[in-house]
Amino acid sequence: MPTPTPILLTGTTGGLGAKILSSLLHTHHIPPNSIIATSRTASNRSRYESQNLQFRVADYNRRATLDEAFANVENLLFMSSSERDNEKRNAEHANVIEAAKKAGVGRVWYVSLAFGSLGDGSKIGFQQAHYWTEDQLKFSGLNFISLRAGSYSDAFPLVLNWYPSTRTVLMPNLNPPVTESKVAFASRDELGEAMATLLVRGLEALPSVQPRTEKNIILLTGPKAESIVDLVGAINRGRRTDVGVEYLEPEEWIEASAKDDEGGKGRAWFEARLVFVQGLCDGDAELVDPALETLLGRRPESGTETVERLVSEKPGYTWHQNHAR
Ligand SMILES: NC(=O)c1ccc[n+]([C@@H]2O[C@H](COP(=O)([O-])OP(=O)(O)OC[C@H]3O[C@@H](n4cnc5c(N)ncnc54)[C@H](OP(=O)(O)O)[C@@H]3O)[C@@H](O)[C@H]2O)c1
Repeated sequence: MPTPTPILLTGTTGGLGAKILSSLLHTHHIPPNSIIATSRTASNRSRYESQNLQFRVADYNRRATLDEAFANVENLLFMSSSERDNEKRNAEHANVIEAAKKAGVGRVWYVSLAFGSLGDGSKIGFQQAHYWTEDQLKFSGLNFISLRAGSYSDAFPLVLNWYPSTRTVLMPNLNPPVTESKVAFASRDELGEAMATLLVRGLEALPSVQPRTEKNIILLTGPKAESIVDLVGAINRGRRTDVGVEYLEPEEWIEASAKDDEGGKGRAWFEARLVFVQGLCDGDAELVDPALETLLGRRPESGTETVERLVSEKPGYTWHQNHAR
């Protein structure tokens, strides 16, 4: 059998995967032909092959593409699917795990999420798919790591339901209050940079970054936990605006947020968001871990620092997931 290709990346066309790929190529100077880029869309082939990268189609919904894509691969970077329905997402992830097992992949690096920190206690809806996937990886017998990625600071418009036209951010009255929420936000680019370093150096060369719990978790967070209301202050500093915060009772907040939402998100979306915001208030993403700083070799940006920078660079900043499909 030929020597396995060292790295296969899923999610290469997305924001996080693209950053991992560019760090591998331009920071670590990994030869492009030792990396396989993938996408669900075959027409992306030329975009990668023109850079001397290998390319394979990998669609989590089409098991046959995964069986073919994962053949003879040492490290599989398994990006969690962007599917929002947990049942469908679990089915996609099960396909990835079964195909990786069948292909005999050397190690799976699963990109999970940091809600619940090192435990499984968060009630946030989408986090349940990550817990489930980690369990399946554990039961599969595969050699795997769960990279629990901190809540993206870049996704602040989603967290606040903020648009460039917003004059007042609406927040639900919760207990503990949102002013006391604590989130160790992390920037997507820094997460990507750190993941590339892990893939290149391997755990063996990084004794202070060791996976924890039976789920082999590496928790990647920003340097401090900040309240989501602090992000509004960062927007105002970066854009020189005076966006305010209005607090509403939860039911009223759902109604008011869903009414004429600029992104077209409906009531059900905000009902799920209420659970999300409650999780942030309960400290689901509060734990700060030094692993990201160790991997970057510098202090990571905090959530407010990233937000202030992003909106000062681009006052019309938007986040794709803030808009209904
Ligand atoms: N930490 C956080 O706060 C946070 C925030 C938002 C999202 N996330 C999670 O992190 C992931 C990556 O984030 P991102 O910002 O890079 O997302 P993104 O820009 O939306 O990119 C998603 C990537 O996932 C790939 N993908 C999605 N569904 C797939 C499927 N069924 N089969 C194969 N590939 C699939 C897409 O590939 P193709 O379209 O080329 O096939 C694309 O490259 C997301 O999918 C989501 O699970 C985390």
